[in-house]
Parts: sequence; structure tokens; C-alpha cells
Amino acid sequence: MSGSQDGRPQVVEPVVGGEVLDRLGQSLDRRIQQQEILSQLGVIALQGGTLDALLKDTVRLVAEGLPAEFCKVLEFEPENNCFTVRAGVGWEPDVVGVAQVGADLASPAGFALKTGKPVISNHLENEQRFRTPELLARYDVLRAMNVIVQGHGTPFGVLEVDSQSEGDFTEKDIPFLQGAANILGMAIEQERNQRLLNAALERHQVLLKEMNHRIKNSLSIVISMIRLQVKDAGPSPVSEQLEAAALRIHAVARAHERLYQTDDVEHLDAGRYIEQVCGDVDESVANCAIHVDAERDILIATDRAIPLALMVNELITNAAKHAYASQTGCEIWVRLARDAGKITMSVGDRGIGLPPNFDMAKSKGLGMRLVRAFTKQLGATISTNSSARGTEFVVVFPLAATS
Ligand SMILES: Nc1ncnc2c1ncn2[C@@H]1O[C@H](COP(=O)(O)OP(=O)(O)OP(=O)(O)O)[C@@H](O)[C@H]1O
Ligand SMILES: [Mg+2]
Repeated sequence: MSGSQDGRPQVVEPVVGGEVLDRLGQSLDRRIQQQEILSQLGVIALQGGTLDALLKDTVRLVAEGLPAEFCKVLEFEPENNCFTVRAGVGWEPDVVGVAQVGADLASPAGFALKTGKPVISNHLENEQRFRTPELLARYDVLRAMNVIVQGHGTPFGVLEVDSQSEGDFTEKDIPFLQGAANILGMAIEQERNQRLLNAALERHQVLLKEMNHRIKNSLSIVISMIRLQVKDAGPSPVSEQLEAAALRIHAVARAHERLYQTDDVEHLDAGRYIEQVCGDVDESVANCAIHVDAERDILIATDRAIPLALMVNELITNAAKHAYASQTGCEIWVRLARDAGKITMSVGDRGIGLPPNFDMAKSKGLGMRLVRAFTKQLGATISTNSSARGTEFVVVFPLAATS
């Protein structure tokens, strides 16, 4: 504004032609579109799809945002000092995954990679700084723009746009191209970390399995040694107790055996495990038939499966030892079922029933003391139904530990 002759301020109209305004408008529209593309790419990267899909989306959207007929991601191969075209748009099918470009300082992509600086070359044919890579010459590319795709430590490679048409890539296009490359760099880094993490996890699982295998083998040695002593001692109360101890150790060994045979090293299929433990007890209690009805696919944590199996072991041994004292036809029924979040396990017989003065809470035998300890460990309740027609112990506990 300036003063007029009549003293009133005079408004000076800006002298801007319609053409200039049009160009400004187009440039603004382009920057807005580029911002939209960057935010779209960010969302795609966060969605965590495959890296290949993200690379494809990146080259497509970057080419659209500049615009340029060609775009590619070049992955650096340090051992050969060259790049391989990892993803691209505009190229014939024999380029992506196949074509290679030198990574020396005399190539635009190599320069961007080694200096970390963006490179714009709007006249490749007159370029003094670089030679024109063979791939670009083959496609009559006139201009190119390259930015580095960072990784953690070593860079991943370069993001490049190429065009056959006259015109200029400008400094103002660089934030867009570098922004897309940075999103890519972060996603690549995340994928690398995920891969390392998965490999570490896999190794951890292998080691855990190996450890379970060794524990099982060591326990088998302990069982063999105890059984040798049983043999040496001959029939006696001590031998019986040693045999009972061997059976308890066998139940623990079975859990470790199952753990190295399955993929999930922290859980066991309770039904399958109990069936196996019952099979082992069956072998050691002569003249007794054990019927197992165990629901499948009840996965429980190993540290809950072992006390459960040891409890079953004690209850079966008791039924075989006490219920049919002077009778023949020893039969024992073991059941395992899940109802909502609870598991019910029962061991029943058709024997003589519990002694009249039997008190679960006070019984001094080692078997009942163990059963009480495991009941507590599992957060279980235990009840007994006993008559002259037999005994049933019923244990109910939550699927998962409550504290
Ligand atoms: N199924 C059953 N039928 C009849 N009596 C049983 C049954 N289960 C347990 N008992 C009685 O309960 C008692 C206590 O059992 P517990 O397992 O604690 O000791 P035990 O079997 O005698 O010895 P241990 O288990 O220490 O070798 C047994 O001695 C027995 O009298
Ligand atoms: Mg007992």
C-alpha cells in the first residue's frame, strides 16, 4: 500500500498472470497429493503385510506421485558391489528380480548409496558426474532421481524414479521421495528384526526340546538304577517303596518325553499324557485293568500337567493296592473331562471301599500327603464317594493357574 494524492491509501493489485497462478496451483496440488501418498504408505507399512507387497505399493505410488513412468527399489549386494532390482513399475517382466546395476560412485544409484545424499539428474545424456547405467539407456531414460533406503547399520539400497519425458525433477520432489524411502527403510528394518526374533525363538524351542530330551533320558537312567536295586533287594517292603518311587519318576519323565515330541513346549495335551501315564502304571500293577476315558485337546501348562499325572499315579496305585485286597477282577476307571474353564479328573474302583475312619485331610500315608500337596498346587478341590461297592476320588481344578 502507498498514499494517494487524495490522502487515501491506494491498493496495489499484485501483477500475477493467470498462467503463473495455474502453475502454482498445480504445484500445490502435487505436494498435497504427495503428502496423501506418504500417509497412505505409512498406513500400509503399519498394517504389517509382506515386505514384497509393500515394495510393490511403494514403487506404484511413488511413480504416481511425481509423476514418473518408472520407479524401482534397488537392493544393495555388498559382496558384488551392485544392486538388484527388487521391485519396480514400468519395466518389462525380465527386469524385476533380475536386472543388476553397478553400485560404484560413477552410477547415480551408487552415488546416492555411498554418499547418503539424494541425486537428481535431469539430463542423463549430458551428465558429467555419472555414466548412464545400461538399464536406463535401454529404456531411453532421460532423467532420474535417487535416494538412499536406510537400514540399521548397512543401508538396504536405493529408491529411484526414472522418466523418458522432457521436464525436471526438482529439489522439492526430494522430501517426497526420501519420505517414501524412509517408510520403506523402517519397514525393512522391522522385517529384519522380526526375522531375527523368529530365528532366536526357533533356536530357543530347539534348545528347550533338547533339554527335555536330556531330562527324560536322565530320569530313565534314575528309574533303571532304582529298578536294579529293587531286583537286588528281592520282594520286600523296601522294594515296594522303591518301585513306587520309580513309577512317580516315570510320570515326570513321560511329561518331558511328550514335550520334546510336540511343537508346543510349554503345554501338554492332558488327555494323551494321562493315557500314557496310566499305560505305564498298568504295566507295573499286575492283574489290574485300567480303563481310561480322557477327553482330547485339553491343553494345560506343563507345570500343572505333572502334578495332575502324579496324583493319578497315586490314586491308581492305591486302588490297585488297597481296593481289591483279597478279591480278583481288579478294574480301575480313570476319567478326564473339561467343562467350561474347569477340568474334572476321577479315579474309581469297585473294591471294598475306604476304611471307616479314613480322613482325607489327616491320612498320614505318603500317597495321600502327595495327593493333598498336588491338590493345593493345582488350586483343586478333592472329594471322595466311597461305599462297600467301591471308591471314587474326584478332583476338580481350573484349567489355568488362578494366581
Ligand atoms: N481306593 C482305595 N480303596 C480302599 N482304600 C484305600 C483306597 N485308597 C486309599 N485307601 C486307604 O487309604 C490309605 C492311605 O493311602 P496312602 O496312599 O496315603 O498310603 P498307602 O497307600 O498305604 O502307602 P503309600 O502310598 O505311602 O505307599 C491306605 O492305606 C488305604 O487304607
Ligand atoms: Mg498309596
